[in-house]
Amino acid sequence: MPSIWLAEMLSGRLDRARGESLQRQLYFLIREAILARRIAPGRKLPSTRQLAEDLALGRNTVAGAFEQLVAEGYVVSRVGAGSFVADTLPDHYLEAASAATPAPATSLRLSRRAQLVLSGTDIARTETGTAFLPGLPELRQFPHKDWQRLLAKHWRGARLADLDYGRGGGLPALKQAVAEYLGVVRAVRCRPEQIVITAGAQQGLELALRLVTDPGDAAVIEDPGYLGARSVMQANGLELYPVPVDEEGLDLDGVPWAARPRLLYVTPSHQYPSGAVMSLTRRRALLALAERHDSYIVEDDYDSEFRYSGSPLASLQGLDGGGRVFYLGTFSKILFPALRLGYLVLPEPLAEAGARLLRRVHHEGHQTHQAALAEFIREGRLTAHIRRMRLLYAERQQVLREAWTRHIGEDLPLSGGEAGMHLTARLPAGLDDLALSRLGAARGLNLRPLSLYGLNATPSGLVLGYAGVEQQEIQRATTVLAALLASVWR
Ligand SMILES: Cc1ncc(COP(=O)(O)O)c(C=O)c1O
Repeated sequence: MPSIWLAEMLSGRLDRARGESLQRQLYFLIREAILARRIAPGRKLPSTRQLAEDLALGRNTVAGAFEQLVAEGYVVSRVGAGSFVADTLPDHYLEAASAATPAPATSLRLSRRAQLVLSGTDIARTETGTAFLPGLPELRQFPHKDWQRLLAKHWRGARLADLDYGRGGGLPALKQAVAEYLGVVRAVRCRPEQIVITAGAQQGLELALRLVTDPGDAAVIEDPGYLGARSVMQANGLELYPVPVDEEGLDLDGVPWAARPRLLYVTPSHQYPSGAVMSLTRRRALLALAERHDSYIVEDDYDSEFRYSGSPLASLQGLDGGGRVFYLGTFSKILFPALRLGYLVLPEPLAEAGARLLRRVHHEGHQTHQAALAEFIREGRLTAHIRRMRLLYAERQQVLREAWTRHIGEDLPLSGGEAGMHLTARLPAGLDDLALSRLGAARGLNLRPLSLYGLNATPSGLVLGYAGVEQQEIQRATTVLAALLASVWR
């Protein structure tokens, strides 16, 4: 334990004016901390010299307190290694301590929204990089050196203001770089001032919701759909209307316009998780309907960079003439999720309010990361990385398809795969995908059940991420899955 922690814990409690010696006070305070498990069994204690210095006490005072703790069995001293809290303490000491520990709270009253969000099934997650965790990029090939160089450069040059809260909805240089990038690759039409830099798409979605909805408002989500979006919407008290998706994306005939949805959340470039791409006709129809019913659209373009065939369709935001569409993007898929940086392109009339709301509700930060990222984009490194990953992911998708055909066969078809980082497989009706996923977890496989993504009855299936999984692992995992399927089906 760093000496300064212990000094911090003890210093305000040593009373020099009291009759009792400082050595004795120190002994009692450390003993009390050990009994209350504030210092864990086996933890190394600082040296008497360092602790004496941090507490501004004489070294003999500290050494005397330690000696008494050793003599009574609270602390063991190992020659050459230092002093450690004893692993086991005599029972009667512990009884005395536990009597003083307050009982845990028994009645936990969570809000209805928290209960709703937390009631979903948690799926065990295997180690990063194992098949078939969806949504994860190939982290092993992230250009660490370039990133480190840019981070170091911007840390070295950091001004005082870069350590303060950020303001204005993100660093202007990053907003500028994102606006240019989106204009070129996604036909998004915006001025940099319409962009706010967020802590990932999740926060961007929350900001959009807070700008234009109130608790109790109706909102439409795709069914099956992205769980992260569902959680944020539920946590913000929205009344959710799940609408089915077909091979062209959100089924517009299923939208309950009579409920007056204030907002519709869609993933038109690559529906999550079905993989459907929304046709141009459907896009135009959606925009026209939203206009007629005075609803907003959140377009989540989370992995549109990875498109393997055909030319990308224009974003809804680019097709929209007015102020209906919030365009949501993230660096989680094209760089790495822990970066927690994304962006929200606001409809022009909401731009200023959006930046102010972000500041008031969340406060802003990460200026040096934002500056490094702006340069990473401007230098063309982001695009170069995306191109490399696009080739790699296309190869991996092919490996998965071939292994699937060889070991599992075409009775269980895979989704189209013209874009993205995962494929979806349909399972025979009656085969419980949740149970299969649990069996898979016991064999080191990460099998996301499709039914997990639906609010209404969803066909049984698996969402198979391949982007962040090496070829051999894809092959190995497919054979394990084939054996597992053979044991429960046919
Ligand atoms: C549909 C969709 N949107 C957004 C995200 C990423 O969000 P964030 O930027 O919060 O990491 C994911 C990640 O899995 C996703 O699947």
